[in-house]
Amino acid sequence: MPPHSLLLCLLFLVQISMSYSIGGFTYDGFSDSMLRLDGVASISSRSLMLTDGTLQSIGRAFFARRFDSVSSFSTTFVFVITPPYPDRSSHGLAFTVSATTDSLLDALPSQYMGMFNFENTGNVTNRLFAVELDTILSTEFRDPDSNHVGIDVNSLESVSTHAAGYYTPNGTFSPLKLISGEPIQVWVDYDDSSHLVNVSLAPYLQHKPQRPLLSTTLNLTSILPSSVYVGFASATGTLRSIHRIIGWSFSPDGEAKPLDYSALSEVIQDVRRADQRSRSHIPRKVLIPVVTMSVTITLVIILALYVYMKKARGSGEYWEIDCGSSSFTYKDLVSATSGFSDKMLLGKGGFGKVYRGVLQTSKQNVAIKRVSPESKQGMKEFIAEITILGHLRHRNLVQLLGYSRHKSELLLVYDYMPNGSLDRVLHGQNKQILDWVCRLNIIKGIASGLCYLHEEWEKVVIHRDIKTSNVLLDNEMNGRLGDFGLARLHNHGTDAHTTHLAGTWGYIAPELARLGRATKATDVFAFGVFMLEVACGRRPIEANDYGDPVPLTDWVTNVWESGSILKSVDPKLEDYVKEEAELVLKLGLLCSHQAHIVRPSMRLIVQYLVNDVLLPDFQPSFLSLASRDEDFDQYIPACPSIATTMTGLSGGR
Ligand SMILES: *[C@@H]1O[C@H](CO)[C@@H](O)[C@H](O)[C@H]1NC(C)=O
Ligand SMILES: *[C@@H]1O[C@H](CO)[C@@H](O)[C@H](O)[C@H]1NC(C)=O
Ligand SMILES: *[C@@H]1O[C@H](CO)[C@@H](O)[C@H](O)[C@H]1NC(C)=O
Ligand SMILES: *[C@@H]1O[C@H](CO)[C@@H](O)[C@H](O)[C@H]1NC(C)=O
Repeated sequence: MPPHSLLLCLLFLVQISMSYSIGGFTYDGFSDSMLRLDGVASISSRSLMLTDGTLQSIGRAFFARRFDSVSSFSTTFVFVITPPYPDRSSHGLAFTVSATTDSLLDALPSQYMGMFNFENTGNVTNRLFAVELDTILSTEFRDPDSNHVGIDVNSLESVSTHAAGYYTPNGTFSPLKLISGEPIQVWVDYDDSSHLVNVSLAPYLQHKPQRPLLSTTLNLTSILPSSVYVGFASATGTLRSIHRIIGWSFSPDGEAKPLDYSALSEVIQDVRRADQRSRSHIPRKVLIPVVTMSVTITLVIILALYVYMKKARGSGEYWEIDCGSSSFTYKDLVSATSGFSDKMLLGKGGFGKVYRGVLQTSKQNVAIKRVSPESKQGMKEFIAEITILGHLRHRNLVQLLGYSRHKSELLLVYDYMPNGSLDRVLHGQNKQILDWVCRLNIIKGIASGLCYLHEEWEKVVIHRDIKTSNVLLDNEMNGRLGDFGLARLHNHGTDAHTTHLAGTWGYIAPELARLGRATKATDVFAFGVFMLEVACGRRPIEANDYGDPVPLTDWVTNVWESGSILKSVDPKLEDYVKEEAELVLKLGLLCSHQAHIVRPSMRLIVQYLVNDVLLPDFQPSFLSLASRDEDFDQYIPACPSIATTMTGLSGGR
């Protein structure tokens, strides 16, 4: 039989019940008719597979026809998220109503969920309404499993969120695990007269809850244009999750038609069968280790946890750290490091030793930080590190994989960074010289990671100890920021607490030394010094010919004043792009300006680095202006972009 007739035959055999009228549409299982697929999205086993388990990918699907008048709309859909691990998954999926499908083309994966990018999140021109099912950031900090549901308008910052779950008929709240691998149904209803958006969730085959999970007043008429597209966006980050929609019904006016559950149940079965088949299609060589390994790991973890918890309950030793990551047993880590042998020692940090380890079960390389805090204070700092790192996911941050506690010792397990720390490569005796492309890439990466900490995560995280020895290099020589031992959490919008001075000499902003108060601006100062260090290949403080210590910022400023700023570029660099080097050096100086109000925000720094915003022109004399505000008042009118910089930072969160 020729292939096309086979296809025709299949089309007739496979029943796809899709109905469509001006009033709306209903998919009880999917074919690609009338769907606009984008990214890695595809139709697979009659389900709409938004992401297919590849990393850092986006999948989107829109109903191809635009709705010209959406007043009181209503939709319901059933989704299944297949996470790579039972307790961890990539970012999630969202139902979206948007003005165009094109503006999403620039969207990014990971936390942007395929809807936004770095610059446009929060911009009212997005004209996008979304209901996100976020499986990575937990609003309920105490429970790593409590994934949330949020209503988003033009931005990733939800206008309303709630831990995933539903209200039972007797009024009690029942939590739902979005990444259980089980189908879950969602309802979104908007009423044009009351401007009320309701969102509800329930396990598949349960009734729509009477009381919605989220109910928010929103005037969608003022947010969306009259013609809109409806669809889904989904993204993965560093974990191989699969996001699927099984069925979907939408009505632009009035209640959506109910789904045909018997048809959906068949699709769900098909999907499960296909998943099993695709697993068995993986070559044996890969399959056996992967399957047995994952089964063994799961079993080992469950067993270990069980034994540990039982034992711990008796001895009072057990305590739990909420970090969204898994635990390792002490024994695992002892065997991973050949009993913490010196052979495996990678280095010593401020708080303890770091070892390389190979996990026996998975053969995965890890770095294990072994800390024995001497004081309660020290323990507190590390618990802070775990709590923060465990919840953060960004490709320029060192990923914490888990932890273990043994007596008074804390063992933190991180992704292993094969290329070591940046300061060793930059200042070490080795022959390897980082070229300019690589250096700029590292600078941009760290800027993006720091911007995530400052602006994009749900809490503001001040790193407090940015320096080249805290930047590690992965196997592709991307920079990753590590060591959050000194970081503190505080909520967006509130001030950082005044605490004791922390940081590393040479990277400490003057006001931090004076007042002992770490802020985003003191991080930016340290980042400025970091940029100069990377571009110049010099340490933050080096002795001059007379043996006096000279801060790098002063040294670069002096070089600039006596001629070209480019003379300060690392002489080991044979080849570099002049404009880029000049940008990095000047931006580095601006960031490490004595006056904190002049320093740009991390978001703006990233925009400067990718040339989205032009760095304002300034002379070296600008850098020696004192830090009293009145001095700048005279300067600002002459340099409006610097003024923007200032308001950008002081007016920021
Ligand atoms: C919002 O986006 C529009 C169009 O892309 C752009 O012109 C405008 O500058 C953006 N506004 C902000 C505040 O970024
Ligand atoms: C409410 O109903 C749920 C099941 O629907 C049940 O598990 C729970 O115990 C009930 N709570 C009360 C207070 O009746
Ligand atoms: C939203 O929920 C509220 C409270 O249960 C209900 O009164 C209202 O009718 C609902 N609106 C829509 C559009 O479903
Ligand atoms: C909703 O927004 C539209 C368009 O901006 C406006 O005409 C209307 O008055 C608003 N309705 C309410 C209740 O605010």
